Amino acid sequence: MREAHKVRVELGAASYDIFLGEGLCPALSAFVKEQNFSRKALIISDENVGKIYGEGVAKALREVGLCPELHLVPAGEGSKSLAVADEIFTHAIELGLDRRSPIFALGGGVVGDLAGFIAAAYMRGVPFVQLPTSLLAQVDSSVGGKVAVNHRLGKNLIGAFYQPAAVFADLAAFATLPKREICTGLGEIIKYGIIFDADFFAWLEEHAADALILSPEAALTMVARSCEIKADVVAKDERESGLRRILNYGHTIAHAIEKETGYVRYNHGEAVAVGSLGAAYISEALGLIEASVVERVRRLTERLGLPLIAEGCTVDGLYAAIFHDKKTVDGRVNWVLMEDIGKVRVQSDVPESIVRMAMARCLKK
Ligand code: NAD
Ligand code: GLY
Repeated sequence: MREAHKVRVELGAASYDIFLGEGLCPALSAFVKEQNFSRKALIISDENVGKIYGEGVAKALREVGLCPELHLVPAGEGSKSLAVADEIFTHAIELGLDRRSPIFALGGGVVGDLAGFIAAAYMRGVPFVQLPTSLLAQVDSSVGGKVAVNHRLGKNLIGAFYQPAAVFADLAAFATLPKREICTGLGEIIKYGIIFDADFFAWLEEHAADALILSPEAALTMVARSCEIKADVVAKDERESGLRRILNYGHTIAHAIEKETGYVRYNHGEAVAVGSLGAAYISEALGLIEASVVERVRRLTERLGLPLIAEGCTVDGLYAAIFHDKKTVDGRVNWVLMEDIGKVRVQSDVPESIVRMAMARCLKK
């Protein structure tokens, strides 16, 4: 195994490392050996990922003295629920997990958000380790400590900020990742170029073909740069009182699309791709960017296999949905808008007519 690449998330006493590389079980074992964990541990995974990688992770943990139990949930957004969390709490209590028992999240963003929620609440908080396996989870959801389950009235409404003790982003897991899930992750990766790093955006334009097949070099570059950007932003504003809002670029319209289409038609990264275009249309209409900048975003989105429009929604439906988003406070929508590639601002005074126009462009070819 080559030495794992490390990105540090600086959060004082809650600081942690993101380990990146291929074949990270030895690094995981070495990390666990240094912790003061109880022997009984829980690995939470979904039925796709757990069947492929669960035993390998359990073996690495057993080798350093842990006694891990694998808990599998059905794959998909439906598992991010209080009902599924309740089943896992019951399992944890029956197994006798104590306050120092670690919980390992092995899977995509669904498993990471769910397992993090369990870790934050079980016995008022137990150690939590992220083992993200989807591209989206490695570049976004496993870093930064947002953990949650959904409520029938909305997504991610029941949750906490709860940082992991470490993140192990094993690029070898991409070997089994379905093509659609690669594109999904690329939706969040384009976002980092838009909000923070014009050079990274240009790199994506130049290496789109390698990005799409997740060549080893492209995968490492994208995961490392995305984690560095996210770590930097989270270190400056863990609880989203200001700067961290920029990570929500494209998410206001994205969450409306997901809600309007019942969380099944589009997955999160696809909705973010369309929502990112929507935010670019608003930025253009407010005179913040030229049409040529919007065109660069559109073209990269298309080349990375992502949708440019959402079907199955109406402008009225999307417009109503943005006021139910948890980022909307006291009726104010904090729009993250482009000032250029690599530079964004937060603005809440966007006229309804402009928002509706942008939404209409997200729905039509
Ligand atoms: P997901 O967890 O549903 O994973 C997508 C699919 O890929 C699933 O079927 C899963 O079983 C499969 N899969 C994952 N890794 C695999 C692998 N290596 N091999 C084979 N199959 C694999 O979805 P996701 O896109 O990873 O995450 C989406 C979730 O993340 C949403 O719930 C979203 O709200 C959340 N999210 C959270 C944050 C955060 O900051 N906490 C940020 C972004 C997204
Ligand atoms: N995905 C947005 C955030 O972590 O803040």
